[in-house]
Amino acid sequence: METPFVFGKIASDKNFTDRKAETERLVSNFGSSVNTILISPRRWGKSSVVAKAADISSKKEKNIRFCFIDLNNVRSEEQFYQQLATKVLNASATKTRILIENTRKFFGKLIPNVTISPDPRTELKLGLDWKEVKKEPDDILNLAEKISTENNLKFVICIDEFQNISEFENPLDIQKKMRSHWQKHKNVSYCLFGSKRHMMMDVFTSPSMPFYKFGDIIFLSKISLKDWIIFIQKRFADSGKKIGHNEARLVAELADCHPYYVQQLAQQSWLRTDTGCTMDIIEESFHDLVLQLSMLFQNLTDGLSRTQISLLKALTDNINQLSSKNTILEYQLGTSANVVKLKKMLINKEIIDIQGNEITFLDPLYKFWLKEYFFNN
Ligand SMILES: Nc1ncnc2c1ncn2[C@@H]1O[C@H](COP(=O)(O)OP(=O)(O)OP(=O)(O)O)[C@@H](O)[C@H]1O
Ligand SMILES: [Mg+2]
Repeated sequence: METPFVFGKIASDKNFTDRKAETERLVSNFGSSVNTILISPRRWGKSSVVAKAADISSKKEKNIRFCFIDLNNVRSEEQFYQQLATKVLNASATKTRILIENTRKFFGKLIPNVTISPDPRTELKLGLDWKEVKKEPDDILNLAEKISTENNLKFVICIDEFQNISEFENPLDIQKKMRSHWQKHKNVSYCLFGSKRHMMMDVFTSPSMPFYKFGDIIFLSKISLKDWIIFIQKRFADSGKKIGHNEARLVAELADCHPYYVQQLAQQSWLRTDTGCTMDIIEESFHDLVLQLSMLFQNLTDGLSRTQISLLKALTDNINQLSSKNTILEYQLGTSANVVKLKKMLINKEIIDIQGNEITFLDPLYKFWLKEYFFNN
């Protein structure tokens, strides 16, 4: 029997809850060709919400085309151009004949080698001297705009983990090239998203950076407790099992409303439930989930220095004044300058995040594990 919860995959249809405001804003931006920058920590649902909005837009507008590029799989500028050209071409037509025509027509001076497999579901592959392309990438950077203008189409190019662009060989150089072309596009918009908030902010909010004020910045929030309760109860009911309001609430609260963990904990509780889910079942599932993760958490902690761990201890003790004399003494944090340094290192390791005065653990179960298992021993 299929389980009613999903994690680690894109949440869609019945598995997708809330995000009404964000979905509407994305659909509206896609429709009016406004660029979007979407930022949230890992596993909060960026890919799911973009996929959902793309799906709604495609049903609403016949002429809109989406391309998805994931910079996790792209290591260099050459590879980026290859991905961009391939995805744009593949989105431009469904018929092989038109695809080939488009390839001939829109490549200007560059004449690529095209490989098309007889299976219509696989993508066309482009062979080009990408080193040459890199010297003069204008045709590729403008390909979507050219195709859309001639064919009366609208393109939305979605690029995941966009902050990885900072790891290319000449990151500023490629960002300048992209921006200078993309800002002139009328029928193409860009949805650039990523999970490393600080790196994303560097790229999009520093006045000295090429992508400064490039588009509408959306910070994805967690899904609210109220929505989770409705969702969990409904998914149980749909599959012929029961869970009460307070029990559904416990699932969401233990997982700190973190989308991936809520679904995972709901799933484990559902599997243990015959007819009605109880508090005991949820507690037991939660305990098991933390145990499953403990090896991972132990490895993560082994990679930290003694003072980094001390700072995490202070945080799990809910100490707010980390730089106060008393805290520094009690937790042996060295100096207040050192505290600043430690916080930075933990942000870079994506363990904590700081917004204003608030410091949060990005992984709520890691915080729980540290407090209840690691420091309690
Ligand atoms: N709107 C939603 N409704 C229900 N569950 C969701 C929703 N969005 C995300 N989730 C849950 O969170 C998981 C992660 O979602 P998704 O892959 O979209 O996040 P992401 O931010 O793109 O993650 P990553 O940083 O790993 O790319 C999903 O598999 C699903 O379990
Ligand atoms: Mg994703």
